[in-house]
Amino acid sequence: MDVKIVKDKVAGGQAAFELIKAGIDNGAKVLGLATGSTPITLYQAMIASDLDFSNMTSINLDEYVGLAEDNPQSYHQFMKDNLFNQKPFAHSYVPNGNAANIEDAAADYEQIIAENPIDIQILGIGRNGHIGFNEPGSDLKGLTHKVQLTESTIEANKRFFDKEEDVPRYAISMGIGSIMKGKQILLLAYGEDKADAIKATIEGPVTPDVPASVLQEHANVTLIIDEAAASKLSK
Ligand code: GLP
Repeated sequence: MDVKIVKDKVAGGQAAFELIKAGIDNGAKVLGLATGSTPITLYQAMIASDLDFSNMTSINLDEYVGLAEDNPQSYHQFMKDNLFNQKPFAHSYVPNGNAANIEDAAADYEQIIAENPIDIQILGIGRNGHIGFNEPGSDLKGLTHKVQLTESTIEANKRFFDKEEDVPRYAISMGIGSIMKGKQILLLAYGEDKADAIKATIEGPVTPDVPASVLQEHANVTLIIDEAAASKLSK
């Protein structure tokens, strides 16, 4: 794993942007995108750039189950607000959290990934080491599936909702196996509350208890983290 320590999230967004730009110069056509507060500075750098994504494809990691696409907290809406309205892609895929049958929607999504292999996958990380919505205990080879959110993720995400009861309890997420198929992976993390997860990801054993630790087994991973997120690393 390549670890780049940056001053802050603005520098991190710029560093991730430079890697994406280099990837596109080398022929990358499919970006795997993430939501959460972490990738916002990257998306701002993409928006501020003169890069054109209109011949590229994007594939998002996850979506809540049961939120309307235009709900302000849905990941469909998040992506429009933070990137797609300003920088449209030729095709943008986000899992369908409103499908009548979520398992079928998950299988369809995995087919989309198979047909559009992800060149560069962007990831954030949860405080418990989750990636996408693959919570601790997830199958390290799992594909896109329906997941039940843990209390810690509901707690962390409730700040975006009026009340805790409004936070969806389920999501549809690319699995860890789907994520590992990405040819290159950029994981971004900022702030002290990610420091334990980052230490376990880089220095701990590969274990389903820390889903991001499996990235140690991927040949092309860069972690872009700020000093606070790096503060518990021993080296
Ligand atoms: C959610 C998302 C993850 C994201 C995580 C961290 O649970 N499903 O993809 O990485 O939150 O979010 P944040 O970047 O806001 O800390």
